[in-house]
Amino acid sequence: MGEVVDPSFIQSIEHRPNLDPIEAQGIPIIDLSPANSPTDALVAAIGEASQKWGFFQVINHGVPAETRRKLEWASREFFSLSKEEKLKVKRDDLNPQGYYDAELTKNVRDWKEVFDFTTKEPTIIPNDSHFIHLVNRWPQHPPNFREIFEEYTREVEKLAYKLLELISLSLGLAKDRLNGFFSDKQTSFIRLNHYPPCPFPDLALGVGRHKDGGALTILAQDNVAGLEVKRKTDGEWIRVKPDVDSYIINIGDIIQVWSNDKYESVEHRVIVNMEKERFSMPFFFNPGHHINVVPLEEEISLDNPVRYKAYNWGKFFATRKMSNFVKLKVENIQISQFKIVEGA
Ligand code: OGA
Ligand code: NI
Repeated sequence: MGEVVDPSFIQSIEHRPNLDPIEAQGIPIIDLSPANSPTDALVAAIGEASQKWGFFQVINHGVPAETRRKLEWASREFFSLSKEEKLKVKRDDLNPQGYYDAELTKNVRDWKEVFDFTTKEPTIIPNDSHFIHLVNRWPQHPPNFREIFEEYTREVEKLAYKLLELISLSLGLAKDRLNGFFSDKQTSFIRLNHYPPCPFPDLALGVGRHKDGGALTILAQDNVAGLEVKRKTDGEWIRVKPDVDSYIINIGDIIQVWSNDKYESVEHRVIVNMEKERFSMPFFFNPGHHINVVPLEEEISLDNPVRYKAYNWGKFFATRKMSNFVKLKVENIQISQFKIVEGA
């Protein structure tokens, strides 16, 4: 991958990483074993981590290790196939689900190849005046890919609801206050990421700095470091220690808006490695496309007046997905575009 990329061109695109990382002291590790009957201490820990970091790591999360290993193995198996084989399931402008290589789309911003799957089939998203149906493309190898994926999806979805309920409680809301947004026409998806070794680790990034646009992200990493989180207190990039058993959770833009900025969606990025390839599997927990995202009325007060105008999630999501595919030069849509400017 990328033998002919001109380093000075890459460097001109974005601020490049400092390869002398600050280790992840401080990203809270939260034990979810009491999650089925949440204790006040657990709810407080979730609230504090969400507020201070926007990121935390969970252990005893309930996803069986074997279920996760099977999908990790299937992902390695898939990415090791020939390019020709992988391109049989490539995404296109009619259905942006499937395989893509950042280099093939001339997206030299990111040093990675990915495979996207929705967790509901079909998943409907708006596209200008009509709706498009996202359907998954299943690779032929490994042959039981679909079964493995579906088993993982069921388990990680349970964890997503558990976290959603804890976050809801931590915002002083009823446990199930947010569940309804996800009960119908959910647009969640799982992305398999493969970051190949990169000859210019000081010049390229696996994923450039960004915030996740959905509600919540549940990330499975392998044992190779790479993820960096921007610390809220001083803006330093903090390297997250890899751990193959826990999950990294981050608050997405939608929870930022629902909480009226009590919680923030925090910037993160992935740096590349010269010798080692890296794999990761984020589950993006997203509501139905018809949901209009707006601060919850319980989070609005005289002291904290409403900070965002409502926006339609499906349109936001489709704009991101499609611009990612065809209009790489177009600036990504951001929630800041819906921010209500004080005094305006
Ligand atoms: C993402 C992301 C992190 C990683 O895909 O949005 O932030 O470690 N991935 O792959
Ligand atoms: Ni991300």
